[in-house]
This record gives sequence, C-alpha cells and structure tokens, in this order.
Amino acid sequence: MDRVALVTGASRGIGRAIAQELGRGGCRVVVNYARSAEAAEAVVGELRDLGIGAIALQADVSQEQEVDSIVKQTLEQWGRIDILVNNAGITRDGLLLRMKTSDWQAVIDLNLTGVFLCTRAVAKVMLKQKSGRVINITSVAGQMGNAGQANYSAAKAGVIGFTRTVARELASRSITVNAIAPGFIETEMTAELDAAPILAMIPLGRYGTAADVAGMARFLALDPAAAYVTGQVFNVDGGMVMS
Ligand SMILES: NC(=O)c1ccc[n+]([C@@H]2O[C@H](COP(=O)([O-])OP(=O)(O)OC[C@H]3O[C@@H](n4cnc5c(N)ncnc54)[C@H](OP(=O)(O)O)[C@@H]3O)[C@@H](O)[C@H]2O)c1
Repeated sequence: MDRVALVTGASRGIGRAIAQELGRGGCRVVVNYARSAEAAEAVVGELRDLGIGAIALQADVSQEQEVDSIVKQTLEQWGRIDILVNNAGITRDGLLLRMKTSDWQAVIDLNLTGVFLCTRAVAKVMLKQKSGRVINITSVAGQMGNAGQANYSAAKAGVIGFTRTVARELASRSITVNAIAPGFIETEMTAELDAAPILAMIPLGRYGTAADVAGMARFLALDPAAAYVTGQVFNVDGGMVMS
C-alpha cells in the first residue's frame, strides 16, 4: 500500500521539493499551506500529472484546531499517515534590543509550537499503526546561533530538543523522529540576503538547493536503511557546521 505523507508548508521552497520527492518515492502526499492556495494547487497538479495521489489542505499549523482538522481530513481521505514532515517556518529577523515581542512570539508559535501540535496530532495515528517517520526541519541557526535571529534560533534549537525527546517516547512503537538542519538554501526565505559573507562560511562554496534537503528527507522517510536511525540531526549545509 502507498504510504501517506503530510508535509507542512509545502506550497513552495523546501516543503514543495520534499512533497515532490516523497511523491516520486511512491507516497500519496498532503500539501499543507497557510495562504498560497494557488501555489499549493500547482504542486498538487504537478504530482497528479505524474500519477501521484495528492491533495492540498489549508491550515495555519500554529493553530491547534486547524492542525487537528487537517489530520482528520487526511484520515478521511486516505485512512492513515505514515510520514510527517514538519517544514512550515517563518523568519521575523531583528537584533535583540529591537525585536518586537510580537515577532518573537510569531516565530515561536509557528516554528516550535507548530512542530509540537502537528507531531502530537499525528503521533496518535502513528501509535495506533505502530509505525511512522517524523522529520523536523530545524536549521544551522539552532546550532550555531545567528545574529538577528534570536527568535528563529531559539525555536530551531527547541526543535532539536523536541526531536530527541519525542524520538525516545515513540521508539517502542517503531516510530522514528529525526531532524534535518539545512544551512543556506536558495528559497524565498533567503532571497534578500547578502550572498558574499554567507558563501565565505560554506566549505562547499555554494548555497544549497531545496532538492539537496529533499534528498535527505526522502532517505529518512522512505529508505529501509533509515529504520534504525532516530533522534538524530542531519546537517545539509555544505559543511558549515561540523561537530
Ligand atoms: N531557506 C533556508 O535557507 C533554510 C535554512 C534552514 C532552515 N530552513 C527551514 O526550512 C523550512 C522551509 O523554509 P523555506 O526556505 O522553504 O521557506 P519558504 O520558501 O518561505 O516557504 C515557507 C512555507 O511555509 C508555509 N507557511 C508559512 N506560514 C505557515 C503557517 N502558519 N502554517 C502552515 N504553513 C505555513 C508557506 O506557505 P504559504 O505560502 O501558504 O504561507 C510556505 O509553503 C522552514 O522551517 C525554514 O525555517 C530554511
């Protein structure tokens, strides 16, 4: 039976690439989005053109009721959820003393609480199935810190602690929980950044692509070889962070 994958924030960027990669890998895919309905429907159309089952479901994943609603809709449509990719994320950058409380809260609400809400809701389904793979998209900013991103770095570091804890809680039911830490990836999120100082920090000398991240997600989500891998953080960052 085809596996069912729910990818949050899949209307563009890294989430879109992951949705496409999991679809090509044989999954039926839920393309979640918050505002970009047209873009999400385009992703669904591309998948269906390849004969892949796909639906677009709108939800702000920082909102508990909206998360519960898309999980319910997915179960009504396909009856199971095998893979959850917590990808939706935003930035609201600013140096500490100028950071508005609303910008702090918005980033924590989506990038950290959203991961909690989606994982908790989908874990109930996976626990019954006694299998599942959860992949959380964190960031090198959660490992190294990044000036101007106290909110984002705190949320992404929180995702790493969350990943390790939930991996321990769910392991006995064959549910794996891992994180991917991308470096600088070419998407709308990084479009405005000054490239020169960033490239100087990347041993491989280029920005990553969404496809680079999607390849790692496919391995963790689908490859039988990943069955014994849980609670880990995989950097896809051109060598920026080496530990
Ligand atoms: N790009 C990078 O260099 C980089 C590096 C490290 C980590 N990351 C992480 O990778 C993930 C994807 O980043 P990206 O660069 O692909 O971002 P992006 O191009 O800005 O796309 C963000 C996605 O998240 C969705 N989204 C935004 N708010 C949402 C909400 N409240 N509920 C549900 N979905 C929401 C957007 O959908 P709508 O258009 O419908 O709002 C969009 O599909 C994020 O977690 C980000 O922090 C990115």
